[in-house]
Amino acid sequence: MDELELARQEIDRADAELAAAFVRRMEAASRIARYKIEQGLPVFDPAREARVLEQNAGRVASPPLREAYLRLLKCAMSLSRAYQRRLGAENDGALWVESERGGYGVTVARGALARAGELFDLDRRVLVVTDRGVPPAYAAGLAELCREPVMVTLDEGAAGKSLCGAERLWSVMLEHGFTRADCVCAVGGGSVGDAAGFAAACWMRGVDFYNVPTTLLAQADASIGGKTGLDQNGVKNLVGAFWPPKAVLIDPDLLKILPPRLLAEGMAEIVKMAVVSDGALLAEIEAGDPYEKIETLLLRALKIKRALVEADERDEGSRRLLNFGHTVGHGVEALAGGALYHGECVALGMLPMCTPALRARLIPLLQRLGLPTRCALEPERILAAALHDKKRTAQGIMAVFADEEGAGYCREISPDELKARIETGWNR
Ligand code: GLY
Repeated sequence: MDELELARQEIDRADAELAAAFVRRMEAASRIARYKIEQGLPVFDPAREARVLEQNAGRVASPPLREAYLRLLKCAMSLSRAYQRRLGAENDGALWVESERGGYGVTVARGALARAGELFDLDRRVLVVTDRGVPPAYAAGLAELCREPVMVTLDEGAAGKSLCGAERLWSVMLEHGFTRADCVCAVGGGSVGDAAGFAAACWMRGVDFYNVPTTLLAQADASIGGKTGLDQNGVKNLVGAFWPPKAVLIDPDLLKILPPRLLAEGMAEIVKMAVVSDGALLAEIEAGDPYEKIETLLLRALKIKRALVEADERDEGSRRLLNFGHTVGHGVEALAGGALYHGECVALGMLPMCTPALRARLIPLLQRLGLPTRCALEPERILAAALHDKKRTAQGIMAVFADEEGAGYCREISPDELKARIETGWNR
């Protein structure tokens, strides 16, 4: 056996020992988490972490190896913190999302809006941002829980999600003396969350941002993952920042007043998550009335999104699966001139990217949900609009496909193949 093979065998043995030691370390961390939860102690104990590093520095003699080992140990401690936070934050209606800014809790519960004071730190100046399309009582209810609320109502949709909208928020924050210790809270759909989140990301280089999404579309997708953005020169989300929220509150009771079309477009995003990542969830949506089990469906969709954003927060790889339906969908949306909602365009955009068998399964489901499955727009025009997408590459465009339920994947697609798919993707 040559030297290379012997060294590799040694590495394999060391990896097996590391795996066993890692499991032991995390099991101990979960016991610590349970203790800290019971005692109400914080997960992060900087003095203890400093002691662990000091103690272990002496265990590795070689200086360059010592430095690398301490980096590994810091990484293990950070994973342990994340694991403990998750154990502490998760229960039936709550999720923990790990993020480069430290992670955040997501509460999904009926009536949760009234509990915002427990879930958010509102004992400071709070810019409560909403828009004209949201029932004023939602933002007013949140403002009542704040020590110093400052309310702003943006214009609805794209008009508010603009540099003009963000400038308005910053002007109000300046007028009211907002500092880095204050925060922004969005109460509204995806556009409000995008504009308020972006304003928070930029104000004094970043202040805490809380999100209370009030549409199913925003609750199921945009509420987590930290994307904020503004439209510029008619291009969606051209200007933006990754700025994860400090906490998210999802109250399914807020959906009660949503018109059926707005509910349906939100369901399109849940179907999207199921098709790319969870075949069992697709079956669950198909069985019975999905709105009767909306809390369960939301939690399952958010768990899918959580896994994708935790693995790829900055959208450089696996998170792109969430763009399923969006390549063609954005093309349709650009041409529809507001006649179709975003989720409706996503529903249409999914069909050309599926195999015929999966498409045959999705069409009746989308129809039952009240989503469109036919489009009369010319394929050439959709293609031209789709090719303006930000995901354009030298060869064509990066798109997401599903050959079977629960198993989405990304690959580059040429304009010719995309056009052929649009031609056969739905009936005109
Ligand atoms: N809505 C797609 C994403 O968050 O990446």
